[in-house]
Amino acid sequence: MRRKVIAGNWKMNKLPNETIDFIQKLEPLVKETGNEIILCVPYTDLFYALMTAQNTNIKIGAQNMHFEEKGAYTGEVSGEMLKSIGVEYVIIGHSERRAYFLETNEIVNKKIKAALKYDLKPIVCVGESLEQRESGKTNEIITEQIQYALKDITSEQLKSIIVAYEPIWAIGTGKTATAEDAENAIKAIRSKLLEMYGQQTSQGVIIQYGGSLKSTNAKEIFSMPNIDGGLVGGASLDVEEFSKIATI
Ligand code: 13P
Repeated sequence: MRRKVIAGNWKMNKLPNETIDFIQKLEPLVKETGNEIILCVPYTDLFYALMTAQNTNIKIGAQNMHFEEKGAYTGEVSGEMLKSIGVEYVIIGHSERRAYFLETNEIVNKKIKAALKYDLKPIVCVGESLEQRESGKTNEIITEQIQYALKDITSEQLKSIIVAYEPIWAIGTGKTATAEDAENAIKAIRSKLLEMYGQQTSQGVIIQYGGSLKSTNAKEIFSMPNIDGGLVGGASLDVEEFSKIATI
């Protein structure tokens, strides 16, 4: 049985004082859950989040990192830097990074390798645009993204990786994929992993759904056999709402 993993992606939201307050309020609401809970916060909140989440079941992640270790990359943060302060997870290849910061599949692959080098656990995002969905290319696009993202990644390394299926048209739009559509896309991802890594390894990979998740729609989506929780954007900014989703 795979565990359920619920991760919040705060994107570019919340200041340190809001971060401390949020985690202090979240802690009693989620302490009994068997789900794994992760908050992916802005770089400037990471240290405060890590301090506040100590001795709780809330894990902390970053939303991006550079693939190089160090050097003349103004404004960038490396995997080693994240690891050095105790960060455990890092989102890689979010569609907003792919769209606004021109991250290619090749860059995503480099970042995953760099994250693994420093024992960070990547949450790797894939997803199709509305145009791609409407032209019937969903499975082709997401399996291609998986293939490139995981190039040269071993079965052993795959155990530290979470995949998040986030259809771009569902992100921040209020349009959620139906539970069936999300399940079908995630099944296609798992079949690709089966082809690449075999039955046992592919069955063990946590694959989340993300895109306009709310406490009102998450239960049905999380009940699908191949969906192992979610990556939550907007709804993760409200502590009550996030706690409801995290404890389903
Ligand atoms: P929303 O939940 O706001 O649609 O965002 C999803 C997302 O991008 C999480 O990474």
